[in-house]
Amino acid sequence: MKRACVIGWPIEHSRSPLIHGYWLKKYGIAGDYAKLAVHPADVKKFLRSLAANDLAGCNVTVPHKEAAFAIADFKDPSAIAVGAANTIWRDGDKIGCANTDTYGFMTHLTREAPQWLKADRPVAILGAGGAARAIAYGFLEAGVSDIRVFNRSRDRAEELAAHFGSRVRADDWVQFETSANPYSVVVNTTTLGMKSASDVDFDLNQLPADCVVADIVYVPLETGLLRRARARGLQTVDGLGMLLHQAVPGFEKWFGVKTEVTAELRALIEADIRGAS
Ligand SMILES: NC(=O)c1ccc[n+]([C@@H]2O[C@H](COP(=O)([O-])OP(=O)(O)OC[C@H]3O[C@@H](n4cnc5c(N)ncnc54)[C@H](OP(=O)(O)O)[C@@H]3O)[C@@H](O)[C@H]2O)c1
Repeated sequence: MKRACVIGWPIEHSRSPLIHGYWLKKYGIAGDYAKLAVHPADVKKFLRSLAANDLAGCNVTVPHKEAAFAIADFKDPSAIAVGAANTIWRDGDKIGCANTDTYGFMTHLTREAPQWLKADRPVAILGAGGAARAIAYGFLEAGVSDIRVFNRSRDRAEELAAHFGSRVRADDWVQFETSANPYSVVVNTTTLGMKSASDVDFDLNQLPADCVVADIVYVPLETGLLRRARARGLQTVDGLGMLLHQAVPGFEKWFGVKTEVTAELRALIEADIRGAS
């Protein structure tokens, strides 16, 4: 039996076992995907013991993503670009890592709103944390030449811009409303909008009518930002699709099947999120 898991500290909130469990059943694979609480002090030991624990690999979530990246023997370009990993697999005695958040976000965005790519206009990223890095890399790979990053702590936005080069520019958080750019996409990568947090409260009236507004927060399923964007008639892209798509490459590495994000899977996770709210 092939086995994988997700590790984090804490880990109770993770929906990865539901997602991978759905695919294991759908494809009739004799496998197992568990969630394990691993203390930060034990991450290296855990990742070096995958074979001993009969694990093909694992997902890695907060706060282990940077540690997993540092420990891995070989690194996918996505992980190198972000400096953090969320997917680990065994290859002989070595372990490899990738950051599939880029794939997850870009796949969902491009499926839901393929027109964004044709617009050939600037994009705006709200936030400059780990997820913002993954998404900035995705936009760069897609050929976007003007990426604006607005972050509460300006120094972090500047670090991100310096890391990726001249196509990425840092701005103060409050400059978003006055930046008046004809963005093709605005994406919230901050923790604002989460169940217990306040919302992104920028005025959206200056955005062009064909601007796509995305949020990577997925609890609640529709954040305040997405609700206001929808009310303004803008196309919205939610965070749940990113979560589902980012799981696809890991499943293929561990269980050997390239899976699909189906409406049935989405409904399953939506129900779980609604049930927990
Ligand atoms: N849908 C998915 O699959 C997916 C994948 C990954 C992450 N996420 C979600 O994305 C969010 C960010 O994750 P992350 O790993 O990038 O976290 P992170 O590295 O801790 O970054 C957090 C970001 O939020 C900003 N922020 C926090 N509180 C704020 C406030 N009150 N006002 C303005 N900005 C604020 C931070 O700004 P400062 O730099 O100023 O602190 C920083 O830019 C989380 O909600 C996470 O659950 C979703």
